[in-house]
Amino acid sequence: MAKHVCPWWLAYTFDNPLRRIFHKPEEIFKPYLHEGMIAVDLGCGMGYFSIGMAKLVGESGKILSVDLQEKMLDTLMHRAGKAGVAHRIIPRLCAEDNITVHEAVDFALAFWMAHETPDESRFFTQTHAALKKSAKLLLAEPKGHVTTAEFKTTLAIAGKAGLTWIDSPVISLSHAALLEKR
Ligand SMILES: C[S@@+](CC[C@H](N)C(=O)[O-])C[C@H]1O[C@@H](n2cnc3c(N)ncnc32)[C@H](O)[C@@H]1O
Repeated sequence: MAKHVCPWWLAYTFDNPLRRIFHKPEEIFKPYLHEGMIAVDLGCGMGYFSIGMAKLVGESGKILSVDLQEKMLDTLMHRAGKAGVAHRIIPRLCAEDNITVHEAVDFALAFWMAHETPDESRFFTQTHAALKKSAKLLLAEPKGHVTTAEFKTTLAIAGKAGLTWIDSPVISLSHAALLEKR
């Protein structure tokens, strides 16, 4: 695994019960996710957001949870089982340079992961290809770890891949942008 990728054991430092104080999935995703949607959580980690998203898409929806670490996906499915939403989640092990999303999705999330990808241009091109027309990508990068200038560069790369900036939602501890496939 490349050095820049967050190892599974480090994920416990931010993905723990205290996280609800500053990241409430139902508040973050309510404007974008509706019953029956298929959405992808790119670099889902241990699934903090996948589980929250699965609750919003309901019984007829699906969340595709993609990560390159098997341990992350195992922990996600264990947690999803306890939350009663495992049947709404499709875990998928991907390669570092290929998100392996072949489905057309209504919404994509890339939370605190784009800076870990080896080639952002390739990453956004693949994400763009997976989105349906007018579907949105919510991009969030960790403040402190990623500078404002670096985030602007990331947005420019996403723009070149065909993802148009439409909003800057406020998300704790994060630089965030809502992008759309036109
Ligand atoms: C800092 S963690 C964030 C996890 C999750 N999004 C969250 O907010 O709880 C970054 C995750 O992205 C995954 N990741 C890094 N590079 C990736 C890539 N190229 N493709 C897919 N997942 C990747 C890592 O394995 C890790 O689980």
